Amino acid sequence: MSGPSGGRIPDSFIEALLAKTDIVSVIQESIKLKKNGANYSACCPFHHEKTPSFTVSQTKQFYHCFGCSAHGDAIRFLMDYQSLSFVDAVEQLAARLGMSVPKDPVLVAKAQVKQSTTSVLKRSADFYADLLKNHIDAKLAHDYLKKRGLTGQVAKAFQLGFAPKGWDNLLSHFSKEADALKVLEETGLIIRHKEGRLYDRFRERIMFPIRDRKGDVIGFGARVMDKSQPKYLNSPESPIFQKSHCLYGIYEALKTKQKWQTAIVVEGYMDVVALSQMGVHGAVATLGTAITSHHLTTLFHLVDEIVFCFDGDKAGMGAAWKALQLVLGLLQEGRKVSFVFLPQGEDPDSYVRQQGKEAFLGLVKNGTPLSEYFFATLSEKIKPNSVDSRAHLASIARPLIETIPPGIFKEMMYEQLANIVSSTPQVVRGEKAFRSYYSPKGQTKLKVAPPPQPMETAYIASALLLREPNLYTSANTQATFNQEIKAPGMELFYFLCTLLSSDPLLSSLQLRQKLLENNFDVNRLKECENKVAILPLDGLEAEFCGALKRLEVIGREQTMEKLILKAKISELSEEEKKALKEFLQFRESIG
Ligand code: GTP
Ligand code: MN
Repeated sequence: MSGPSGGRIPDSFIEALLAKTDIVSVIQESIKLKKNGANYSACCPFHHEKTPSFTVSQTKQFYHCFGCSAHGDAIRFLMDYQSLSFVDAVEQLAARLGMSVPKDPVLVAKAQVKQSTTSVLKRSADFYADLLKNHIDAKLAHDYLKKRGLTGQVAKAFQLGFAPKGWDNLLSHFSKEADALKVLEETGLIIRHKEGRLYDRFRERIMFPIRDRKGDVIGFGARVMDKSQPKYLNSPESPIFQKSHCLYGIYEALKTKQKWQTAIVVEGYMDVVALSQMGVHGAVATLGTAITSHHLTTLFHLVDEIVFCFDGDKAGMGAAWKALQLVLGLLQEGRKVSFVFLPQGEDPDSYVRQQGKEAFLGLVKNGTPLSEYFFATLSEKIKPNSVDSRAHLASIARPLIETIPPGIFKEMMYEQLANIVSSTPQVVRGEKAFRSYYSPKGQTKLKVAPPPQPMETAYIASALLLREPNLYTSANTQATFNQEIKAPGMELFYFLCTLLSSDPLLSSLQLRQKLLENNFDVNRLKECENKVAILPLDGLEAEFCGALKRLEVIGREQTMEKLILKAKISELSEEEKKALKEFLQFRESIG
């Protein structure tokens, strides 16, 4: 990346360039500005609005939109408005002023290599496209394309080609050009055999040239025309072709007249082509690899909205969750992300051909918003139906939400999380103690199993009492204690209960004091206090009663086990028999 601080173009040149440039006239070449006091204003070109909140300051040489917060200098404006790279924007401004940009020799050399490489690839694409028209076997390809429903027009727009049978079609075409052959070998279009002979990589396939945003051919995807394997072959990575950066269809999406507003990320080349043919603009596909944050950054430089369109199967769901995790960090204000899951067995290609353009656009328009998909997926994996699982859900969601850039969206995500786990945004944001317990390394992987917390009921009950000592009286706690219960933390809980039964007005602070004075180990208790801290006040009593009930069950089970054991070695008294019968009935009743 080159940039003002990248050092490729000297900062002094950028400063001189901006000093000589008038931002008002630069912007006015693209949109109509109205003088408004000291400033100029217009409806913002970076988001949709009816009343102007886009302001340009001549004195500050800066623009700012009060609606979407877009702002910057003349270079930034050109980059965003015309989708230019930094260097290209600088070039354009310099050209307006008749200045020439000082060139870094390394960059110049790189550009030359790229230029000579892509010109050979372009000629290869032309060659394959020509064979699609004129080769004696071209009918094979035509039949296949026809079977897939592709028109000549869309084949032309994507410069589809045909690699016929044979080991040296491309090779012979370039046989007299040593430099070109070298490029073809470097980019993997021809392969050197062990014994030194060269041969064509792509044979008997439909060729999909992959172009960068400027339209330079940087690689190829190639599909068989029958059921043989591999279905697709891609050219291998090369200095100008990195799969983690490139997207199929990006040039075609940028090329059309209408401004590209929504990127539809699909899985296959054929999906991109079919959608385009059916009039759905702006689909792109990764090159058979998982989506990366490079892809997403590239897209968000060009559009404000991304719709991920995946198959409705397990793999599609996995891909969607991965995309979601990557995209969170890029969700600045004004950007929108949603998810579309197609019915089982369908892909965008088959869907748009069967259901038509409007139906597909309907899906895109009504995709599941990111926030909804986020919470629905989490609540499905971790049902928020107990203190533990709600805390667990919060602990998984928090580190993900944390990656969202500050802004309203982030706040709303915290609010929604709070709703789902019956807590407050402040709490789910994470107090220190809570955080260090649940999320030791800020893990962001979706762990499905709730953390095993066997037998911590007595601690939970104690934590609840510490948060709200009144619970002791209001929940009629006494009733639980007509039996002996052995459970971790039970001693501590009994202790608290004894204190409260003799003085129901003891405060939380006083109770803590007594625990410390009596040398109780409070580590486990603290963990549970953190869980209890996220509960809403009006849910405390229900949680406490629930905990008492669980303790009661534990106690009864234990008594019963003892009686059963005793019955094996001696006769039970009438009273004991009656009790055992009751316990067994009780056990039945709770299933
Ligand atoms: P069609 O079967 O022609 O409809 O292709 P598709 O574009 O729908 O492909 P599919 O959904 O099967 O796969 C999605 C993408 O994964 C393809 O566009 C390729 O980029 C990639 N892909 C699929 N099969 C292969 C393969 O055998 N090898 C490689 N390298 N990539 C593949
Ligand atoms: Mn397909």
